[in-house]
Amino acid sequence: MAQDPVSMIYMQVGSEEPFFKLVEEFYVGVEKDPLLRPLYPEDLTHPKEKLALFLIQRCGGRGTYTEQRGHPRMRQRHMPFKIGMKERDAWLKNMDNALGKVPELAAYRDVLDPYFVEFATFMINQPQ
Ligand code: HEM
Repeated sequence: MAQDPVSMIYMQVGSEEPFFKLVEEFYVGVEKDPLLRPLYPEDLTHPKEKLALFLIQRCGGRGTYTEQRGHPRMRQRHMPFKIGMKERDAWLKNMDNALGKVPELAAYRDVLDPYFVEFATFMINQPQ
């Protein structure tokens, strides 16, 4: 069976720095996003760290996310937030903009774009 291509990205990129950069850029967008900003806590330090560690782990890097947070159970973790189609689209737009600023990861768009679309769609927990 072919290996999941998302989990091969870290090995090819070879460092964590682009993942942290991606997350910084993503949250620059979230901070200005009137739909998404209210969903997040005032202090974005922890959301940034969690998302970066999650993406590093998902892409095949170190497993610190699960060591610190346990099994991802991502749909359950998103249940407290109202996520409809509009929130999904806003999340994806911010991630798309962020990827545009990190060429080391934008090189894997053919793998990352469908991964993010599928994952974000799975997080939808209410009609709009
Ligand atoms: C569909 C739109 C989405 C919205 C509106 C959304 C919103 C949020 C919010 C408000 C939080 C809580 C802040 C925090 O504690 O970090 C959160 C947590 C998180 N989100 Fe999302 N999210 C979305 C999609 C995604 C996707 C597609 C991913 C991954 C590819 C993701 C990964 C995470 C992670 C790793 C956490 C931290 C979970 C934890 O360990 O507590 N989210 N999200």
